[in-house]
Amino acid sequence: MIFALLLAACDGTVAGRVDAGPGGEGRTDGGNRDGGDRDSVDGDNGDGEGWLDHPELPFPERLSELGVFPDMADPTHADPRAVSYTPAFPLWSNGSRKLRHVVLPSQVDNRTADWGFPRGSVFLKTFFFGTDLSQPIETRVMRQGEQGWDYAVYAWRGDEAMRTDGRSHRVEVEGPEGSLDHEIPGRLACRACHESSPSWILGFRELQLNHVAGGGEQTELERLGDLFTEGTPEVPDAIEQADGETRAVLGYLEGNCVACHNGTTEGPNSTYDLSHRAALDSLIDQPAMSSGTIAGTRVIPGDADNSVVILSMRGQIDADPMPPVGVQRIDDVMIDRISDWIDAL
Ligand code: HEC
Ligand code: HEC
Repeated sequence: MIFALLLAACDGTVAGRVDAGPGGEGRTDGGNRDGGDRDSVDGDNGDGEGWLDHPELPFPERLSELGVFPDMADPTHADPRAVSYTPAFPLWSNGSRKLRHVVLPSQVDNRTADWGFPRGSVFLKTFFFGTDLSQPIETRVMRQGEQGWDYAVYAWRGDEAMRTDGRSHRVEVEGPEGSLDHEIPGRLACRACHESSPSWILGFRELQLNHVAGGGEQTELERLGDLFTEGTPEVPDAIEQADGETRAVLGYLEGNCVACHNGTTEGPNSTYDLSHRAALDSLIDQPAMSSGTIAGTRVIPGDADNSVVILSMRGQIDADPMPPVGVQRIDDVMIDRISDWIDAL
């Protein structure tokens, strides 16, 4: 299944440009500035009603029409309804920096491990490369609409961002280590990661919010307690390993692998369990079970270089690299750290 999804997800790739459509049509700076766009709804028409209040409306063409960023020249500043949050274990995306916001029409039901998000909930994640947050590259959006979660991604050019056509697009960006072709994912890639676990929301959950962000004193769960029907849980989910390096490794797997590697079977890419209570048992001295060409042991204590988990993260194996989507530049720093951890086992 993964192979079909990946092939389909790549067919819209255009090198070096943020073209919003095939054949060079629909450039991100073109379009509907003078109105006449059937999807368009003012972000705020003066009485506080806009796209955010209408979960039945389609995604507009322009990000400004969502009504989340009142000043598109400064996307670090959001409408007061959009609450910013930071997960403990972010997804690696080519070394980009990200800002995340959530708009909730009412409280999140946190009685069960998989939280219930009210209709009209909107999540946004904006990606930046380089040393500061001056030039955004893309903003990914998920909304709980009439038919469940739906996706859109907006490609920035200057002070506006246009919705892409749902296929993947490559855009050249300047990272700390020089330029790179960053892929703005297509809809199939969004689904490959977001639809393979019971909760399609991956970063706004108990474990991910149980940490102190940005030099504060409260955890994100405590700070945002009013957003949840049950308030802040008394004993929130946490990685309990005593050893700090083991905690860091398990956290990294939570942020980068557990979307698919969660031990469930219902999603298109659901597979064996790397969540923090299961990962050590799933990895250490366990044979790789892939239907592809991978043979070997996932983690060989003391021998990172021959451990399938490292080989697949480095793309040094005759099979899909891991993760199979979303990475054009691998995370050398963390892979080295995980290697050191394996070598010390
Ligand atoms: C490689 C897997 C992967 C792909 C591909 C991917 N995402 Fe995500 N996404 C994640 C993970 C993991 C998180 C949570 C961690 C974080 O925020 O860094 C996340 C977070 C988000 C969030 C914040 C809400 C949440 O679930 O935590 C939004 C919105 C989002 N993604 C939208 C998209 C859209 C739209 C696409 C496709 C254009 C997409 N994502 C593609 C893995 C992925
Ligand atoms: C988008 C979903 C997805 C993500 C994210 C993902 N994987 Fe995988 N992974 C898969 C699928 C599906 C397979 C099985 C492929 C097959 O059977 O050929 C797999 C196979 C593997 C394998 C080899 C097979 C085996 O039995 O051991 C390893 C190792 C692996 N993944 C590690 C990781 C690691 C580590 C991460 C995070 C850094 C990760 N994966 C992220 C979907 C994913």
